[in-house]
Amino acid sequence: MNIENLFRPFRLKSLNTRNRFVMSPMTRSCAPSGVPESDVANYYRRRAEGEVGLIISEGTVIDRPSSANEPDVPDFYKDQSLAGWQKVVDGVLSAGGQMAPQLWHVGIQENHHSGWLPSAPFEGPSGIGNGKAMTDADIADTISAFGRAAVQAKKMGFNSVEVQGAHGYLVDQFFWENTNKRTDFFGGKTLAERSRFAIEITKEIRKETGEDFALMMRLSQWRFSDFHSKLAKSPAELESWLMPLADAGIDIFHCSTRRFWEPEFVGSELNLAGWAKKLTGKATITVGSVGLDNDVTTIFTGENSSPVSIEELIRRMDNNEFDLVAVGRSLLADPYWVQKVKENRLAEFRGFNKEALGRLV
Ligand SMILES: Cc1cc2nc3c(=O)[nH]c(=O)nc-3n(C[C@H](O)[C@H](O)[C@H](O)COP(=O)(O)O)c2cc1C
Repeated sequence: MNIENLFRPFRLKSLNTRNRFVMSPMTRSCAPSGVPESDVANYYRRRAEGEVGLIISEGTVIDRPSSANEPDVPDFYKDQSLAGWQKVVDGVLSAGGQMAPQLWHVGIQENHHSGWLPSAPFEGPSGIGNGKAMTDADIADTISAFGRAAVQAKKMGFNSVEVQGAHGYLVDQFFWENTNKRTDFFGGKTLAERSRFAIEITKEIRKETGEDFALMMRLSQWRFSDFHSKLAKSPAELESWLMPLADAGIDIFHCSTRRFWEPEFVGSELNLAGWAKKLTGKATITVGSVGLDNDVTTIFTGENSSPVSIEELIRRMDNNEFDLVAVGRSLLADPYWVQKVKENRLAEFRGFNKEALGRLV
C-alpha cells in the first residue's frame, strides 16, 4: 500500500495540516448545559496526538434561542463554553493538530425525548410541526450569529470554521423545497434560489474574518429523514448550487456521503466530493465508511462495523479526486487510527461498535 499521498501536508490560507486526514464532526452530547469540560478537551487532544491532520469539532451551536435541540450539545457563545473551547483548541494545537468548530443551528426538530425544550420555539424557513417560520429579523440575526461565532473562533486560534449545511438542519432546511416554502428572497423554485441563506452566511463570515481565513461548508444530498432523495439531480444542478457558494467565499466543500466509493451521478465514477472539486475548482473533503464495512446508518440498528482495507481510498486519492478525507466512527472508537494507518499496523484496527458511543475514549 502506498499511503504517501494521504500523508502529504495540506495548505490552504489559514490551514496547514500535516496530512490529509480529518476527524469528521461527531455530536457526543457530553457538554453539560452546553459547556465542554476537560473530558472533551482530552478527547480531542488525543486525536491530535494520534496525528489526525485537521479535527472538526462536533456541531456546536450559534447564539440563537433555539439553535440546540438537546441540553448537552456544546454551544459556541456563552463565556463559560468559550473558555471550555479555548482549552480544547489549545490542547489540539499543542499536540501538532489543527482544528475547526462546526457551527450549527438545528432548525426545526422534534422535541427531545427527555422533554427538554429550548427557551424559544424551534425556527426554520417555514412554519412546520412544532416550529415557526423565521422573520426577516430572525434571519438577519442568525446570519450575524454565524459571523460572530466565526470571528470568535479565529480569535481563539482555530484554523478554520465549518458551517453545518448538511443533514436536514437549519441551513439544509432552506435548501429543500418541502421545508422552504418562502416566497421572499430566501425562497424560490430553484435550488440556487433556496441557497441564498447559505450564501448570505458565507458572505458574512468572509466579511468578518477576512480573505485569509479558510472557510468550509458541509453539504449532503441526503437528510436523516430521507437517505435516497437528492438535492442536486445532475452535475449542472450541482454546479448551480455550489458555484455561488464558492463565489461567496467557501474554500472547502465537505461532501457528506455514507459510502465514499459510490458514484454521485451515472456515467462517471466520481463521488460527490469529486464532482464538487471538478465543477468548482475548490478543495473538497470526502467521507463515508472509510476503513469500515458498514455505513453510519447502522448506529441506529446497533450493528457493529468491522475494519476493511483502504486500498480504494488510496486509489482515488492518487487520482486527485478530492483533497482531504474525513473519518468518523473509526476515529471515534480509536484516537490512534491515523497512526496505525501510517505505520501499517492494520491488524490493530478496532472497527466500531455501539458501546463506543457511550464514552469519550
Ligand atoms: C455519533 C455520531 C455523531 C455525528 N454528529 C455529526 C455532527 O454533529 N455533524 C455532522 O456534520 N455530522 C455528524 N455525524 C456524521 C459524521 O460526521 C460522518 O459524516 C459519518 O459518521 C460518516 O463517516 P464514517 O462512516 O467514517 O463514520 C455524526 C456521526 C456519528 C457516528
